[in-house]
Amino acid sequence: MSEIAKLELDGNSYELPIIEGTENEKGIDISKLRGGTGGYITLDPGFKNTGSTKSAITFLDGEKGILRYRGYPIEQLADKASFLEVSYLLIEGELPTQQQLTEFKESITKHTLVHEDMKQFFEAYPAKAHPMGVVASMVCSLSTFYPESLDPNRGEVAVDLTIHRLIAKLPTLAAWSHKNAMRHPFMYPKNDLGYCENFLHMMFAMPTENNTVDPVVVSALNKLLILHADHEQNCSTSTVRVVGSSHANLYASISAGISALWGPLHGGANQAVIEMLQQIYNDGGDVDKWVAKAKDKNDPFRLMGFGHRVYKNFDPRATIIKKSCDDVLAKLGVNDPMLEIAKKLEKVALEDDYFKSRNLYPNVDFYSGIIYKAIGIPTEMFTVMFVLGRLPGWIAQWKEMRENNEPIGRPRQIYTGENARDYVNIANR
Ligand code: CMC
Repeated sequence: MSEIAKLELDGNSYELPIIEGTENEKGIDISKLRGGTGGYITLDPGFKNTGSTKSAITFLDGEKGILRYRGYPIEQLADKASFLEVSYLLIEGELPTQQQLTEFKESITKHTLVHEDMKQFFEAYPAKAHPMGVVASMVCSLSTFYPESLDPNRGEVAVDLTIHRLIAKLPTLAAWSHKNAMRHPFMYPKNDLGYCENFLHMMFAMPTENNTVDPVVVSALNKLLILHADHEQNCSTSTVRVVGSSHANLYASISAGISALWGPLHGGANQAVIEMLQQIYNDGGDVDKWVAKAKDKNDPFRLMGFGHRVYKNFDPRATIIKKSCDDVLAKLGVNDPMLEIAKKLEKVALEDDYFKSRNLYPNVDFYSGIIYKAIGIPTEMFTVMFVLGRLPGWIAQWKEMRENNEPIGRPRQIYTGENARDYVNIANR
C-alpha cells in the first residue's frame, strides 16, 4: 500500500503522509497542508471525517460493532470486571493487580466526602434545578477548594490526587444533587460500601431506616457504568480534550465535558428516550404514528435512542444492555408499560426501510433509561448517571492529551460573511 496520498491542487502535486493505526485504520495527515499549499484547509462540519488525535485508549469499529477499552472487549469487561477496575484500566493503561486495585480503592474511598461549605452551594439552587446543571457547576467548583489543582503540570503524584478526588467525590455530588431537588437530608458516603453500592446508598437511603441495597441493582449499575466508561472522540470527550488543551485544570475540563454531554443528541438522549416513550404512551400507544412522524422530514420529531454517528450496524453496548434490561426487570418483578412501547417501537423501526436504509438501530440509551427507571432513578438524573460512567474515560483522555503535550485545539474556518465595508453613522442607516 502507498504510504502517501497525492493531492493535485492548482496545477501542483502535494504528497500527504498516510498514518496507520494498530487496527489498520488509515488517515491522511493534513497537519502541514495549510502552510504547504499556501492557505488551503480542509472543511468537515461535525468532524465526521476528521481525526483530532492519535489515541491508545479505546478502539471502536462502527461497521463491525466492536468496542474495546485498552484492547479488552467490552463484552468481557461488562461481564467480569468492576467499574473501579475498568476505571483503573482506562486511566493507567493496564488492568490492575490485586494490590494496585486495593490501593486505588483505598485512595478513592478516602476522598468521598466533599467540603461542608459545598452544602451551601446546593441549598442555593432552586428545587427544580436540573441536576446536570448542578453537577457541572459543582465539579467546576471543586477547583476552588483545591487551588493547587489549577496547575495541570505539577507532576504525576499531584495530578493523580486530583483524579482520585474527582472519582471519589462525583457520586457524592451526583447523589446530593438529587437529594437537594427533593429537599431531603443529604446522606453521607459510607466507606465500607463499594463504589456503586455507596452511590445507591447516598441516593436512596433514609437517615432513620436500616438501609440495604439490592445486589441485583448494584450489579446492573456496575454494568451500565462500565458500558458508558469511554467511547473515544465523541462530543463530550472532544470537549474535555479541547478545554484541557489550553492547560485548563482537570475539574474545569470535566465540567465542560458534562455540559457537552447534557444535550439530547448525546448523553441527554437517555432522558429523552423515556420522555418519548411516555409521550407515546400518553398519546394512546400508537407506535406506527410516531414512527411515521420520525420519518417525516417536515416534522422535527426523531426516534430518540435510535441512530449513532459511528455505529452503522449495531451498537455492541445496546446488545449487552438489552439483555441486562430483561434480566433486571424480571428479577425486580417490574412490569413497565414503557417497556412494551419500547419493544414495539424497536420491532417496527427495525423492519422499516427508512431506518434500515440509513442504518439506524437502537443505541445504548434506548435501553439504559428503562433500567434506570426500573431501579428508581428519577428521569432527570439519567444523564447524571451517564456522567458517572463516562468520568474515567474523560480523565484518561485528558491525561493522554496532556502526556502527549498536544497543541491547543484551534480549528480553522471558511469565512462566508461580508467583505470589508465602512462604518455608517446611525443617523444614516
Ligand atoms: N430518527 C429519525 N431519523 C433519524 C434519526 C432518528 N433517531 N437519526 C438519524 N436519522 C436520519 C436523519 O434524518 C438523516 O436522514 P437523511 O439522510 O434522509 O437526511 C440520516 O438518518 C442520517 O442522520 P444524521 O443526523 O446525519 O446522522 P448523525 O451521525 O449526524 O447523527 C445522531 C447521529 C445520534 C445524532 C442521530 O442519529 C440522532 O439524532 N439520534 C437520536 C438521538 C440519540 O439517540 N442520541 C444518542 C446517541 S448514543 C449516546 C452517545 O454516545 O452520545
